[in-house]
Amino acid sequence: MREALTRGDAEGFARLTARISRNLLGGAYRHEANEWNLEEQGDGERVQRGPSYTQTGRHRPYFEVLVVRDGLLPQQQERSRAAVRKLRRPEDTFIYELAHVSTFEDALVAVIFNYTLQAVVIYDHFPFRSNFDLPIFDELLRRFVPEVAEGGQSSGVELAKLVKRIRPEMDVYLLTDRAVEALATQSDLRHVRRLFYDVEEVMELHLSILKGVDDRYDTPFFTNLKGYSRRPIGTFHALPVARGKSIFKSNWIRDMGDFYGPNLFLAESSATTGGLDSLLEPTGNIKKAQEKAARCFGAQRTYFGTNGTSTSNKIVLQALLRPGDIVLIDRNCHKSHHYGLVLSGACPVYLEAFPLNQFSMYGGVPLRTIKRTLLELKAAGKLDRVRMLDLTNCTFDGHMYHPQRVMEECLAIKPDLIFLWDEAWFSFARFSPFHRRRTGMEAAEALRKRYRDPAYRPEYEAFKKKSAGLKAGDAKLLDLHLLPDPEKVRIRIYVTQSTHKSLSSLRQGSMIHVNDDDFQLAEEAFEEAFFTHTSTSPNQQIIASLDLARRQAELEGFELVMRHSGLALRLRREVNRHPLISKYFRILTPAEMIPKEFRPSGMENYGPPNGTWDKLVQAWSNDEFALDPTRLTLLCGTAGFDGTQFKSILSERFDIQVNKTSRNTILLMTNINNTRSDIAYVMKVLAELAAQLEAKCAQGKDGEAKEFAARVDSLVKDVPDLPNFSAFHDAFRPEARGSTSEGNMREAFFMAYEPGDCEHVKLFSKEMDARLKHGPSLVSANFVIPYPPGFPVMVPGQIISPAIITFMRKLDVKEIHGYHAAHGIKVLKPEALARLKQKTARRAASGRNTRIKTHTRQGA
Ligand SMILES: Cc1ncc(COP(=O)(O)O)c(C=O)c1O
Repeated sequence: MREALTRGDAEGFARLTARISRNLLGGAYRHEANEWNLEEQGDGERVQRGPSYTQTGRHRPYFEVLVVRDGLLPQQQERSRAAVRKLRRPEDTFIYELAHVSTFEDALVAVIFNYTLQAVVIYDHFPFRSNFDLPIFDELLRRFVPEVAEGGQSSGVELAKLVKRIRPEMDVYLLTDRAVEALATQSDLRHVRRLFYDVEEVMELHLSILKGVDDRYDTPFFTNLKGYSRRPIGTFHALPVARGKSIFKSNWIRDMGDFYGPNLFLAESSATTGGLDSLLEPTGNIKKAQEKAARCFGAQRTYFGTNGTSTSNKIVLQALLRPGDIVLIDRNCHKSHHYGLVLSGACPVYLEAFPLNQFSMYGGVPLRTIKRTLLELKAAGKLDRVRMLDLTNCTFDGHMYHPQRVMEECLAIKPDLIFLWDEAWFSFARFSPFHRRRTGMEAAEALRKRYRDPAYRPEYEAFKKKSAGLKAGDAKLLDLHLLPDPEKVRIRIYVTQSTHKSLSSLRQGSMIHVNDDDFQLAEEAFEEAFFTHTSTSPNQQIIASLDLARRQAELEGFELVMRHSGLALRLRREVNRHPLISKYFRILTPAEMIPKEFRPSGMENYGPPNGTWDKLVQAWSNDEFALDPTRLTLLCGTAGFDGTQFKSILSERFDIQVNKTSRNTILLMTNINNTRSDIAYVMKVLAELAAQLEAKCAQGKDGEAKEFAARVDSLVKDVPDLPNFSAFHDAFRPEARGSTSEGNMREAFFMAYEPGDCEHVKLFSKEMDARLKHGPSLVSANFVIPYPPGFPVMVPGQIISPAIITFMRKLDVKEIHGYHAAHGIKVLKPEALARLKQKTARRAASGRNTRIKTHTRQGA
């Protein structure tokens, strides 16, 4: 381009500009290295290349390697590129090109901006500050590595550390003329994959780069499965579809084969031999695939699940909880958690999340509530029974906790507390440096590092002095940032993720990530729980897709997630500033979704005028809750539509599918599959609907406008209060008069299996009103979960309060799991409860006696 410009060749310059920009936007140069060879072909003859759904043949992935080296002239850079091309061999799996920068700052900008980079080669000794005076560079650096704005130390090791902070998967190579032997043992060198003594071994470096990428590219299970599908195998086990002969030869279901193609059947087997590993007892390629996933997601161990996070949650809960253990759990947790508690016999203490009544949804559980509950349990002498804190991060609606802060303060009260973070929606989060800080695995590592650091000791000692003399019941403890004792603290963190919800895994693909100092104590129980819930015929394709989803995340997760977040931010901005659309529809901002007290940063919105990147970084680093911008809650009540109605309109008229709704909102979830065209389509649909409403209001008679206003009012203002958890009935609480609220839900759950102990009371009946007013108490026999909002308004053994009935009566949703209008609400009979209460009291008394006896014996 420069040459054409100097020649004064305007036409040539324009042609090159168009070609290069098309190449960059379409990414064609990634598929075909020759795209850069400008002499090769005329522009007109080029075939538009891009991703293809049917393309076969060898595809060699393309990537770029960043070379950080000072003092290299452009001709020298070109020579080094040519030298690397000469090293290529036809059998190489990948091809790569070099990109050069010469300063610390430019290197970081490249790592942020150039998604195709897979490795960084650093030649030690280079200046810190960029030579380019571009404000956008400063802006990018401030977003990703704020400390660099202040300046810093220009060393290769320091650069490696920051590169890994932005993109942990990146391979970093350091070339230095310093004493490599001594440098190689420094702890900071863990960020460097290999250290070389200057340029003595170019071939070695080239092979290391390929090997590093291959290590991430390698999918042990999938690759083996592909190989397996090509082998002629006689199957003498169950599963006739394996090899597909019963399908392709069939007169009647041959279209099944046509539709799915032969590979699906050739890659099926119910055998675990012949190179196929067993998910239940992995020793081969599934084991290796899981180890790679653990590395990728920052876990010590990762387990694949083929029945969704619904099952992964049950596995973790059953593995770690014993009957009678107390679990602090958000009542809005997915139902799999509640069923997991029934299975394990653990007693939940239900925690209330902050409500967003005006939108009929909940946020997350405030840290203050969690601390207060833990301290109450401590004051009641029950801390030894408290085993776990179980929360959803992020929530369906996008509320992200500050896991590091939550766990730190809980560990200060109970140093061996186990945490289960349900990150069903959050598999992608690790691949964005912004979201990552809000994930369980990142917090696990940060906490472990913090407590091992000698600098933590004086901080802890100062805290001890400040909190000396404060008893568990002292309200001052709620205001203090509590710190755990580094001598006692254990890091025991479990994360479950629906890989299929946000990465490229087939439906039901799920992962359990473990980061547990004491896993050796739990491992056998974990295995047992895994066996309990895992099919003995797990789906091979789901396992393979988990392996592939991991590969993609490690190689292009950063790119996909950054693009995806960018699209979501764009959609937020465009909807809310569109003059017509925003009259009827609005995407809720962080200020509307998170009460002020949980946003000390004062962050109100994404983007100007109420949000800057500095503020975002500050908010995401420190605020108690932040809002995931990729989950967009669209207020449709203001357009006169309730959530369910609007969901149907979108689906039936516009082929837009959404999942979650509330009384007056729908949730637009974006993911790595979305494109700018999808965003444009949503905008078009909203503009069309807004224009129709505008026309209707303008033309309509007075009555119509009034009717519209009344409907909007009813949807936006007349929203039923969300009912709090009431209490477990005394029959399910051995120490009924205690101040803490745990209950034996399993006992209630199985009591309902005795039909004689249950009865039904109609929701809209006089009997219901009378029982609520005069008793006897109504006690739920099962879970009642309306969709939306999707949390249990009743759990087995729970007393049904008037607030719950008012809420149920106002609900206008069709789907209420556990409730059939024709029968009424299923409750436990008072006489059955009285019988159980006596039994429970006897049991509690004999338990107390046993405890006293044991105590006396121990004393003796
Ligand atoms: C928070 C949460 N956890 C777990 C699940 C269950 O995940 P899966 O669909 O993978 O079984 C869901 C499903 O929507 C969910 O929202």
